[in-house]
Amino acid sequence: MDTKKDTKIYSRLLLDWYYAERRILPWREDPTPYHVWISEIMLQQTRVEAVKEYYRRFLEALPDVRALAEAEESEYMKLWEGLGYYSRVRNMHKAAVVIMEEHGGQIPGTSQELEKLPGIGSYTAAAIASIAFGEPVPSVDGNLLRVFARMTCSRQNILDGSTKKLAETWYQERISREAPGDFNQAVMDLGATVCLPNTAPLCLLCPWAELCESHAAGRELEFPVRIKKTKKKVEKMTVFLIGDGQRIVLRRRPETGLLAGLYEFPNAPGHLAEQEARERLMAYGLRIAGMKKLPAAKHLFSHVTWQMEGYQVEVAPEDLAGAEIRAGAQKDAVFSAEQVSCSGEQNHDESGRSSIKGNTQNSRFSGDADRWIAVAREELENNYTVPAAFDVYRKLVKP
Ligand code: ADE
Repeated sequence: MDTKKDTKIYSRLLLDWYYAERRILPWREDPTPYHVWISEIMLQQTRVEAVKEYYRRFLEALPDVRALAEAEESEYMKLWEGLGYYSRVRNMHKAAVVIMEEHGGQIPGTSQELEKLPGIGSYTAAAIASIAFGEPVPSVDGNLLRVFARMTCSRQNILDGSTKKLAETWYQERISREAPGDFNQAVMDLGATVCLPNTAPLCLLCPWAELCESHAAGRELEFPVRIKKTKKKVEKMTVFLIGDGQRIVLRRRPETGLLAGLYEFPNAPGHLAEQEARERLMAYGLRIAGMKKLPAAKHLFSHVTWQMEGYQVEVAPEDLAGAEIRAGAQKDAVFSAEQVSCSGEQNHDESGRSSIKGNTQNSRFSGDADRWIAVAREELENNYTVPAAFDVYRKLVKP
């Protein structure tokens, strides 16, 4: 018979081991809902040994829910001093008030109800419900995740929420219906004392060794798989769809780096408000005939996310004349800072539009507009590669 299919065997082996080997811990002596709650919140951030004294002092000062609900902030903060993550004790106080006001001073008895209280997530709710109320629900913390990954040779990243769901399902099928709190705490002890993190587990001492897939394969150290996601850099930018009704302005990206050498719509770092955007465009020597905000868009690269906002900008055909000449001469031709001189002094009329004094049509663009070309709209579709990151805006360019 395949013993792994007999899910009851997991409880039997584990609990026999637990009753012989379990750690003697103060919160296990009298596991009332309040005691379990306090200890579980403290254990989320601190080693078991260090929690013992905090736990003793906290209960001495605030022995029950009412005492916690009525305590001054300065008192419970002082009792927490050194544990860190002070929002946790603030939430415990808030939850105690809710329990007094809405539950008649009784801590709710199901994981579902517990999860509605401030600061109680699925792990803590399951720990309290199983240990103090006997609800057969697994409390999946880092220990339970590691044991699950080794037991099943799971290649899932244990930092993914979806792996926690898989582990919950696996434990749900195996958790003892008679002693679910002991089952959960037994796996916690197994993880802390036998199925050790970051080192070879002590499989000779493990009650589940015969059921363990990574042990059978001699590959315990390959599990769990832990892939830290590097936080992606977020770059905000403002994209300009600049056109004169016939043509649209593109810019060639630098020859190295992200999307090297491809064409893009001119853009500027940051999310520019309309007035800032106008000023930026006028600095390029453009006379703005009309301007409209476009939808925001987002594009995810492997290491960076672009958060884009955009403006449709109508300009007079003569503003693009210089671009047309250069683009017409050779499809890939671009403006460069050297090719075009500064656009001259700008006068702003009351509408915010600018007019350009003293310069000729071939010198509209300047500064960082040094790689701009203006292309007919159909050319954009046929001859220029604009990366998918700009799809939202490319689709808004009318044929
Ligand atoms: N870590 C978190 N909760 C625990 C508990 N109840 N016993 C031992 N270690 C724990």
